[in-house]
Amino acid sequence: APAVIVAIDGPAGTGKSSTSKAVAAQLGLSYLDTGAQYRAITWWMVNNGIDIADPTAVAAVAGKPEIVSGTDPKAPTISVDGTDVSGPIRSPEVSSKVSAVSAVPEVRARITELQRSLAASAENGMVVEGRDIGTTVLPDADLKIFLTASPEARAARRNGELKGADLHATREALIKRDAADSSRKTSPLAKADDAVEVDTTDLTLQQVIECVVTLVEEKR
Ligand code: C5P
Repeated sequence: APAVIVAIDGPAGTGKSSTSKAVAAQLGLSYLDTGAQYRAITWWMVNNGIDIADPTAVAAVAGKPEIVSGTDPKAPTISVDGTDVSGPIRSPEVSSKVSAVSAVPEVRARITELQRSLAASAENGMVVEGRDIGTTVLPDADLKIFLTASPEARAARRNGELKGADLHATREALIKRDAADSSRKTSPLAKADDAVEVDTTDLTLQQVIECVVTLVEEKR
């Protein structure tokens, strides 16, 4: 079969990562978590004392960190300048700052280039998850999925991942991040016109995976 590119976009907590990894593993495709790349560059900015409220300061160093993504869906990795940052990029501090960093056009240009080159070199194809994959990064993707879910369902799922977190605070943080991601000027979170929208509120993860696998197989 020829290489197949699947773009999976949507707001936080809709099951993008779990779905994308499972679909890629099941179909023998590579997997790219583009949110992890934006988190990694944000982690580097925080670690290096860059004022993330200052877009000019962020833009000036956007090209500095070397960000490497491992694209095996069974064991995805992310490193910055050779250091594995899979753990620290999930901290509440990085989560609260990533939208500001990822809104800077120089950051997006840099990360988008990385994403396109990884997708082009994936032998069997790739499942790429993010916010602007179907609209901007890979507009010619073979299949575009846009996952949605109610804010309540999204907060509950995210809370299941972050042990001991407060549900109300999680919900507020997700809503704030989605609003920032949707309203930025450069490639905001948006559904592509030709994307298939899947509302996952009342679906199990297994049902979402099956739905996407079926859609990919129809395209192959
Ligand atoms: O997917 P995840 O929640 O880890 O993404 C973290 C953040 O990275 C998003 O809230 C958004 O600000 C940014 N992002 C983006 N474009 C993408 C993927 C993520 O701007 N394609």
